[in-house]
Amino acid sequence: MTDRTHKSGAPWRNFHGRIHGKTLNRRQQDMLETDLGHFSPGPVSWEENPDRTPLDLAGLFPGKDEIWLEIGFGGGEHMVAMAARYPGIGLIGAEPYVNGVAQLLGKIREAEVQNLAIHAGDVRDLFDVIPDGSIAKAFLNYPDPWPKARHHKRRFVTPQYLEPLMRVLAPGAEFRVATDIEDYVRQTIEEVPAAGFARVDHPMDEAWSDWPSTRYEQKALREGRPPHYLTWQKPVD
Ligand SMILES: C[S@@+](CC[C@H](N)C(=O)[O-])C[C@H]1O[C@@H](n2cnc3c(N)ncnc32)[C@H](O)[C@@H]1O
Repeated sequence: MTDRTHKSGAPWRNFHGRIHGKTLNRRQQDMLETDLGHFSPGPVSWEENPDRTPLDLAGLFPGKDEIWLEIGFGGGEHMVAMAARYPGIGLIGAEPYVNGVAQLLGKIREAEVQNLAIHAGDVRDLFDVIPDGSIAKAFLNYPDPWPKARHHKRRFVTPQYLEPLMRVLAPGAEFRVATDIEDYVRQTIEEVPAAGFARVDHPMDEAWSDWPSTRYEQKALREGRPPHYLTWQKPVD
């Protein structure tokens, strides 16, 4: 981490992933223009919210029992499946890859779910403005593996992500991690407890009972890499 900042006051956060992929088709461009605003969680970027005023989650999801968070939702399979399965919760997702955001918007139209909010950007900017202790469940599905040892510090399971995640979670909140990368399991088991999380007793090779699978998981299975499902909890005190 560095203390450098942008002109807007935003901290300098290197993002190493992809933001754009194949050219978007007309329908995807239309959805990004027309639908994305409807699912805004409120002002997240430093330009819109330079004071980092916390989001009004109760106003965003009136009457919902809990707010959940998905980090890096990719094509949105898990987001839409969970929102449809649990209409009583509000689910916020962060994803900087614009093609993934467009895919999620297509799935939302098909499934007609409304209990979602989308931050089309880096989850670290979202963490800044999520009120402390407000998230009841967080999902990290198939995070970028960063296989080279010198890139392991870019992985999500490092203090730069785990500390703000811990802060936004409610006491007792669950944090689920799915990955097909053995070395990611190793680093998760090392770093997540070091950040203060407790391991929940759940067999690592058994999917959660409400797990809908994702595109990355299907690819991993086709390529012979078995999934691992790790469950953590923020301690109650
Ligand atoms: C390997 S893909 C998995 C996508 C999806 N979760 C799945 O299981 O199909 C990892 C995703 O994490 C996203 N990602 C990486 N860094 C991120 C960050 N800082 N904030 C939010 N998403 C991020 C990437 O853009 C990518 O779409």
